[in-house]
Parts: sequence; C-alpha cells; structure tokens
Amino acid sequence: MSPESVRGTRGEDRDSYTREESRAIRRRSIRLLGSTLKPLRRLIALTAVVVVVSSILRAVGPTLIAFGIDEALPAATERGEWGPAILVAVAFLVTGGVGSALVGWYVVLIARITQAVMLELRTRIFRHTQLLSLDFHESYTSGRIISRQTSDLESIQELLDGSLNELVDAILIGTFTLALLFLLDWRSGLVLLCMGLPLALLMRWFVVESQKGFRATRVVSARLIVQFVETMTGIRAVQAFRRERRNDAAFSAVSRDYRDANLKVVRLFGTLDPGLILLANTTIAIVLLWGAFRVAGGGLAIGVLIAAVLYVRNFFGPLEDVAMFLNSYQSAAAALEKVSGVLEEEPTVVDPARPVRIAEPRGELRFDGVSFGYGDGSRTVLERCDLVIPAGQTVALVGTTGAGKSTLAKLVARFYDPTGGALRLDGTDLRDADPVDLRRAVVMVTQEAYLFSGTVAENIALGRPDATGEEIRAAARAAGADGFIEALPDGYDTDVNKRGGRVSAGQRQLISFARAFLADPTVLILDEATASLDLPSERLVQDALQRLLADRTAIIIAHRLSTVAIADRVLVMEHGRVVEDGSPGELVAAGGRYARLHEEWAASQA
Ligand SMILES: Nc1ncnc2c1ncn2[C@@H]1O[C@H](COP(=O)(O)OP(=O)(O)O)[C@@H](O)[C@H]1O
Ligand SMILES: [Mg+2]
Repeated sequence: MSPESVRGTRGEDRDSYTREESRAIRRRSIRLLGSTLKPLRRLIALTAVVVVVSSILRAVGPTLIAFGIDEALPAATERGEWGPAILVAVAFLVTGGVGSALVGWYVVLIARITQAVMLELRTRIFRHTQLLSLDFHESYTSGRIISRQTSDLESIQELLDGSLNELVDAILIGTFTLALLFLLDWRSGLVLLCMGLPLALLMRWFVVESQKGFRATRVVSARLIVQFVETMTGIRAVQAFRRERRNDAAFSAVSRDYRDANLKVVRLFGTLDPGLILLANTTIAIVLLWGAFRVAGGGLAIGVLIAAVLYVRNFFGPLEDVAMFLNSYQSAAAALEKVSGVLEEEPTVVDPARPVRIAEPRGELRFDGVSFGYGDGSRTVLERCDLVIPAGQTVALVGTTGAGKSTLAKLVARFYDPTGGALRLDGTDLRDADPVDLRRAVVMVTQEAYLFSGTVAENIALGRPDATGEEIRAAARAAGADGFIEALPDGYDTDVNKRGGRVSAGQRQLISFARAFLADPTVLILDEATASLDLPSERLVQDALQRLLADRTAIIIAHRLSTVAIADRVLVMEHGRVVEDGSPGELVAAGGRYARLHEEWAASQA
C-alpha cells in the first residue's frame, strides 16, 4: 500500500493498521520531521559539536581524581612537589568551568531548535487546515483539530526540549564513561559490561510495557478532550435538553479511566526505578570488592578504584532519564503521526493550474450532467442534473429536507466539486475559474451567520476590507440592519463577542445580509438565510432582497413561500433531482407538488 492511500485515513480514525500502513505512517512522520529540521541543519551541527565536547569534558572528572590521588598526592606529601596537585586542581576547574558553560550554551541551542520546529509546525497546521476543503472540516471534529494544535504539539515540544536532550546526554556520557573506564581499569569495565545484560532486559521490559500503557493513556485522553469539547461547543443543546447529569457521568467515567491508565504507567516506574538502583549498587559492590582484592595485592592503585566506582555511578545516573525519554518519545511519535496525517491531507477542491479569469462575470450558470456524492462519492446525492440558470434570474429552490438543495448550492459556491459532469459560470468550468474571481462572483449566505471577533463594521466589511464607513452603512441600511446596529452601545464600532454573543441570531443574519450587499456578488445564494428572522424583519429583508436581487443571478432556498414568491422561477427538488421547473404561477397551475405546497400555505395565511 502506498503512502498516498494512508492519507485518507485521517490520522486516528482507526485503532489498528496493517504493518504496511504503519510503515507508511512512520515514513510520513519522518518526512515531516525531516522537512522541518532541514533548514536548521547548521544549528543542529553546532549543537552536536557543543554537546559532544561538553560530555567529554564532564566525563574526564573521575580520571583526574584518580591521577590526583595516585600521582599528585604522593608527590606532594612524600616529595614536597606541589606542581601535579595544582595541575589537577586547575584541570578540574577548567574542565568543570568549560563543561558547564557548554551545557548552558547547548541548552539554549536546543531550545532554539525546538522553538523553530514548533513555530514551523504550528503555522503549517494552521495554514494547512485552513486550506483544506469543506469535506475535511465536515468530517474531522473540532475536538480532534484542537488536539492537533494543542496537546500534540505539546508532546512534540516536550520531547525536543527536554527528553531528547537527556537521551543524547545519557548516551554520550555512557559511551565516554565506558571507554574511559576500560582505559583506566579494564576489569571494572568488564563488570559494567556484564551488568549490561540484566540492564538491557529491565529496560526492554519497561519499553514494551510502557508502550502499552502510554497508548492506553493517549486513547483515553483523546476521548476526554472530545467529551469536553463536544459538551462545551454544544452547551445550548446540553442545557436545553438537560443533558448535564448524563454528561457529568460520562465525563467522570472517562476521567476515572484516564486516572487509572496513568496510575498503571506510574506503577511501571515503581518497578524500573528500584531495579536501576539495585543494578547500580550491585555493580558498584562487585567493582569495589574485586578492586579491593587487587588493591590489597598491590595490583591496583586506590585512586583508580575510586575513579572506577565514580564512573559506574555516573553510568547509571542518567538511565532513569532514558526511561523518561522513552515515555515522551511514545507520545511525541504518536502526535507526529497525527499531525503529519493532517498535513498530508490534500484539499479536494484544488486551485486550477492555469486559472481562467472571470473578471466581469455576467452570472449564467450551467449544469451539464452534474452528479455528486459526499465522501468517496458512492452514495449519490445529486443525480445527473442538467440545468441552465440565465444571468440575472432569481431561482427559488424548494423541496423536503434532505432533497439536496444545500448540496446544489454548495456546488455552485465551489465548496465541493461535482463527482460527474461539469458546472459552468459564464461558460467557464468552476474547476478552471480563477479562485479569486470566483469568490468575488459567487457569495453564499447560510443560516449560520458567523461573526468574527471585532466590530460590527469589520464584520460587514468581511468581503471588502477596503470599504468606506459610508459604504458599510449603506449596505447595512439596504439589509435593514442599520436600525438595531445604531441602537448598539458603540453603533458600528461595537465589538461583537465571540460567536456574536451580544446580538441575536436574527440580527446576526441581518449583518450577514449586509455583508453580502457590500460584497456585491454576481451570483448570490441564500440558503435558508432568512430562517431566524421574525416576520417584520423578514418583510423588511424581503423589500431589500427585491432590490438586491434585481440585477444579479440568485438562488434562494427558503421554507417560507412568501420568500419564494419574489422568484422568477421555482425548482422543486426531490431525492437529488429537479422534479418541477417553472414560474411560480405555472407551477401552481400545473397542480404538482409546488401547487400543493402553495395551497397549504394559502390556507395557513387565511
Ligand atoms: N457533509 C455531508 N456529508 C455527507 N452527507 C451529507 C452531507 N451534507 C448533506 N449530506 C446528505 O446529502 C443529502 C442532501 O442534503 P442537503 O443538500 O443538505 O439537503 P437539503 O438542503 O435539501 O435539506 C442528505 O441525504 C444528507 O444526509
Ligand atoms: Mg439545506
């Protein structure tokens, strides 16, 4: 299986992968890491040199002590020569001083590398997810995308910042220590080497068990985040349907699972730590005992024995950090897998290689056998639709929920591309159209009128940031929004809270109408955009609409037939097909579905 086919898996949708897939996912992670580290290779090389030199300097300490005790001390006490003793003291000072200065330097260097990688990953994730097509965002939950930007990046940072540092340190110090120990006293070196076997077994056990443990904690922590985000983003529904108790219970259960999973991991350290201490002390005891015999027999200098013991202790010292590294490596690797999964996700709606300009659109829409299905396209939502909407026509789309009205609208706005056939604006396939021209030409207003943090004026000027204050006010007046805006505390400069908390849903819709007025598109799509307006507001918008729609192509999806009445033409959709097509008058006369709808509506008005 190629890496390409893994892209569609979107990171963590499944619990298990085949070996091939896992390998492809790992390659994907390594590619990502490689591409972020590549521009930093000089900094990395410098860091490596600094780390190696500082570890060597820190490793020579015990050798100097051996020299001091065995050579310098007798020289001073027996022959009165203080030169060697001073030499040892100076060497100790210099290696210690330079060694620690280098440690200080490489801590900063590593932090610089880490922060550069984090900055790159963070901006890449943001830029990329923002570019991804609507189908990605409709299937990838917000909780998951938040995890990518928060906890995943945190575990990668933790690894790069702290643990990797410790691992490299432990490996270098361990290697130099072993080498110097062999040079100094190979028998003690041999003892340490033999203890390597039980040590390797202990570490291996820990790696295997902790891998299981950490995987469990990650799975549970992902559930925890999803539970939290879903409850808080859906808080209105939660409170309206009194779901608090049940959510509490569900959240507590997941939290308890999380605690248990973490405790299980901590218990592993409860075995590892004493194991390491036991091994270290056993090794020291053997080295000490064997050394003592040799010192007694005159075969070993006492200073060398002290140095050997110090080296053994130094060797075991950082091993717990190695275990900790394995800990953060596991979660960072998993995080990197998920992040690289999102980054390799490709937009399904791609910008054309050679964009065709539509600088002055007229607004004719032509559907040539357009078919569409969500996801892999296996379930068709729109069936070979042939349709021409002449420039300037106002078309109303009606039909039962799920008939495919919004889908058709989203195709016109090119949030999706058809799976079959072609959709053209003024004869240009939307897939070939210049994306900037297309965004300017086609604007879709939906029921969920999203307000960004900022002022009301800024929100209206979304599509035309260079609009003047007068233009913004004119657009608001045209949409019938100026009345309530002027009543706001700071008028047009009022800061709307996040998600427009301070204005009602209907007012939000009026703002988004003003937004559309100001953007002045050639093709305007209103998908149930008047649904949360009250009748007086709707009547107001109705008048505005008639003016707004006069000289442009419009597709209006609405449940209220009063809105439909202003249309030149009505399309009735059923199961992804247009089943009736004509002027409102014609359709009423024809006595089909629209006529029945109209009859019911007329009865309700009476
Ligand atoms: N993002 C989506 N992913 C998968 N299926 C979808 C998606 N959006 C809509 N559908 C399906 O497509 C069909 C048409 O939906 P839609 O166009 O929203 O209908 P309408 O707007 O007429 O109520 C429905 O069966 C719906 O379940
Ligand atoms: Mg809809």
